[in-house]
Amino acid sequence: MSPLFRQKHKPDYYQHFTVLDIGSEFVKVLILTRQGSDAMVLGVAKEPQAPASIENGAIIELDRVIEAANRALETAEDMAGVIPGLATVGLAGELVKGFSSSVAYPRERPDSRVKESELRNMLQLVQRRALHEAEHLLELERAYGNLEARLIQSNITRVRIDGYPVANPIGYEGRHMDLTVFNTFAPVMQVGAVETVAKDLDLDLVSMVSQPYAVARACAGDDAWEEGGIFIDMGGATTNVALLREGAVEGTRMFNLGGQALTRRIAGEFGLSVQDAEARKLRHSEGVLSPAERQRISRLLTGDVEVMLQGLHLSLVELARDELLPANLYISGGASLLPEMGRELLKPAWREGLSFIREPDVRRLGPADVRNVTDATGLLQSPQDVTPLSLANHFLHQGSEQDELMNSVMEGAVKGLRL
Ligand SMILES: Nc1ncnc2c1ncn2[C@@H]1O[C@H](COP(=O)(O)OP(=O)(O)OP(=O)(O)O)[C@@H](O)[C@H]1O
Ligand SMILES: [Mg+2]
Repeated sequence: MSPLFRQKHKPDYYQHFTVLDIGSEFVKVLILTRQGSDAMVLGVAKEPQAPASIENGAIIELDRVIEAANRALETAEDMAGVIPGLATVGLAGELVKGFSSSVAYPRERPDSRVKESELRNMLQLVQRRALHEAEHLLELERAYGNLEARLIQSNITRVRIDGYPVANPIGYEGRHMDLTVFNTFAPVMQVGAVETVAKDLDLDLVSMVSQPYAVARACAGDDAWEEGGIFIDMGGATTNVALLREGAVEGTRMFNLGGQALTRRIAGEFGLSVQDAEARKLRHSEGVLSPAERQRISRLLTGDVEVMLQGLHLSLVELARDELLPANLYISGGASLLPEMGRELLKPAWREGLSFIREPDVRRLGPADVRNVTDATGLLQSPQDVTPLSLANHFLHQGSEQDELMNSVMEGAVKGLRL
C-alpha cells in the first residue's frame, strides 16, 4: 500500500497496527485494532523462515526474510480485512544489549517542585552512564568484528521520590529522587536490516523493541512486580532472558540455543531429514510416541536441554550482579513446550551456584498472560504466541499520555547527548 493511500485514510490510520516478530524459525504477524487502552487481534499468520536466513538473532538473508514476512503479512491482513500502516518490530539476538541504569541524588531544594529541566538533567546523567556501559559491553564483543551500536529504545522504568514510586515526578516535592532507565542498544547493521524489511513491506515502523524486555513488561503480574521474575523465551535458535527485580526490568541476555538444536540432534541420531526430525520432536512433546521411542528421544534430548540450561545459568550469573535472584521463573517460546525442558528446570542441578530468594517455581506463559491484548481469531494458543502479543502490548504503551510526556523529556535528553 502506498503512503499516499494511507494518508487519505488518516482518521483510521491510528486505529490499527501490525506486529512483526522476525523469529529464527517463524515470521509471525499480528494485525490488531485498538479498543481504548487495549487491543484486539484480528488477523494472525506464521510463516516458516527459510533456513539460515537468521543468524544469532539477526537477519542475514534479507530477500528471503522479506518474502516470508510478506506472505505472513498478506495472510494476516486478509484475515483481518484491514491493511494497517503502523508497525512495531521486536529485536533479539546476542548483540542486542538491554540493561537498566539508575541515578539517585539528594535534591538541593527539597521543598521546590521537580521541573522538566531538572528531570532532563538527571536523564542526561543516566544516559551518559548507559552509553559508557554499552560501549564497554560491545567492547567485549570485539571478536565479532567492528560493531557500531545504536540506541533503539529508551524507557523510564522507575521514578521514586523519597522512596515512593511515582509515574511522573514533575510537580512533586521531595528530598531524594531516583530514576531508572532501560536502554537497548543494537548493532547498526541489525537495525538497518529490520528497517529495510519494514520499508520494503511499506510499513511505518513506529518502534523497535527488545523482545525479552517486551515479554517481561507485558506478562508480569502482581507476583512478578512485587517479588521479581525471570522471563525465559526459548525460541528456534535463541533463548532470551529478562530479569525483573524491584519493580523494574533490570537487564536482558540472549544466547544462541533453542529448539533447532534439539531437532538437529534427533535428525543426526535417527538419520532423518530436518523436517522429519521436527515432526518427531513435536510428536514426542504431544506424548504420542511408543514408550520405547519416547525413552530414547528423552534420553537424547536431556543432554541438549542441560546444555541450554548451562546457557541460562551463565546469563543469570551476569544478570544477578551478585545479588539474590527472584524465584518466579516464567518460560515461553516454542522450545518451552518440550517436556524435558520443564522437568530439568525444576531440578536443582542447573542452578547450582546461583542464589534465589527461595526455591524457584516454573510457570509456562500462554497468550492469556499477556495483558491488554485479546485475541478474536482463537488461533493464538501457544507459548510461541507470547512474544508477538507482548510486542503488541509494548506498542500500546508507547502512546499513553503519561509516558508521552516522560518520553518527550527523554527524547530531549537523548538528543542532547547524541547517542
Ligand atoms: N510442542 C512443541 N514441543 C517442542 N518444541 C516445539 C513445540 N512447538 C514448537 N517447538 C519448537 O519451538 C521452536 C520455535 O519456537 P518459536 O516460534 O518461539 O521460535 P522463533 O520465535 O521463530 O525463534 P527465535 O525466538 O529463536 O528467533 C522450534 O524449534 C520448534 O521445534
Ligand atoms: Mg521468538
